[in-house]
Amino acid sequence: MMGKPFLLAPMAEISHRALRELIAGFGGCDEYFSEMISAGALISGGRYESWYMDNEPEPEKFVYQLVSGNAERLANAVSFLEPYECAGFDINMGCSAPPIIRTGGGAQWMSSIDTAGDMIARVRKRTKRRLSVKLRIGFAYDFDYLVSFCKRLEDEGVERVTLHPRIAREKFKKGANWEYTGMLRKQLRIPVVGNGDIRSAAEMNRRSLGCDAIMIGRLAVQKPWAFAQARGLPLPGMIDLEDVAARFLDMLAKCQPHEFHKSRARRFFTYFCSNFKWANYVRTLLGREAGLSAMRNVLEGFFRENPEERFAPGGA
Ligand SMILES: Cc1cc2nc3c(=O)[nH]c(=O)nc-3n(C[C@H](O)[C@H](O)[C@H](O)COP(=O)(O)O)c2cc1C
Repeated sequence: MMGKPFLLAPMAEISHRALRELIAGFGGCDEYFSEMISAGALISGGRYESWYMDNEPEPEKFVYQLVSGNAERLANAVSFLEPYECAGFDINMGCSAPPIIRTGGGAQWMSSIDTAGDMIARVRKRTKRRLSVKLRIGFAYDFDYLVSFCKRLEDEGVERVTLHPRIAREKFKKGANWEYTGMLRKQLRIPVVGNGDIRSAAEMNRRSLGCDAIMIGRLAVQKPWAFAQARGLPLPGMIDLEDVAARFLDMLAKCQPHEFHKSRARRFFTYFCSNFKWANYVRTLLGREAGLSAMRNVLEGFFRENPEERFAPGGA
């Protein structure tokens, strides 16, 4: 493989099969993380779990990300998923949404080195696959704590960490603190994946010099062709955004349960619409629609009236 690996970030309601299919259609990426999957719902046979478990279109590059505040549930979920093809399991230690924090999951694991270390030891025993963790800096800008935390995870058998270099509960307004990524990498034996605020294919390549792999989230939704651009894979000179949106809606209809269509389409278009000068206008129009075909009609009308919005630069 040329260059460092480029990975699709786990994003709730976004990193599902429809987005992966779209990315794969442009040449793919090196790994696709799932959206966070509740370990508890998975092992108790939740109604939608088969959709969450869908590892297509490139199962060998798929990473299951699990979330829970309960070590036993995480361990059981890993045992449950062990027979399914994937590149590894990832534990979410970065999510700071209040309902996740309240149950001890996501970033809450970062509040105790021992609790997190014991959890990893239990999960480690259940799988031979690659075990990784995605985390934040912690609850404060305390680099020594972050290093001690990660070293303990390393000792317990974590094979890779992804750092989203913000502290818990920090939203996207203030920039990501990439200096922490470079500093952490110097302290650990295991690879460190860099993530946070990457806005272009050129930036993916530039940032990859300071870490072992690059993970992108929102950019991959806005420009599902960004991986191909960063790798220099062949792309059309201009990307037809109407066609990309239509393909996404088709895939959503095929690959997700009906109850999820509206929320997932909205989430996708939150970022995809950043391609347009009239981003907010289009988001508002789409937000009023409940069905996928109505959304498609809105887009058709928009491009008819604003043909100059239809294309974005693709390959060289
Ligand atoms: C809508 C949305 C949902 C997210 N869901 C998850 C998640 O399920 N698990 C996780 O570890 N991080 C989640 N994140 C964080 C991203 O994986 C990533 O760390 C963050 O967006 C910064 O990367 P970016 O600037 O490339 O988007 C989410 C982010 C967004 C925007």
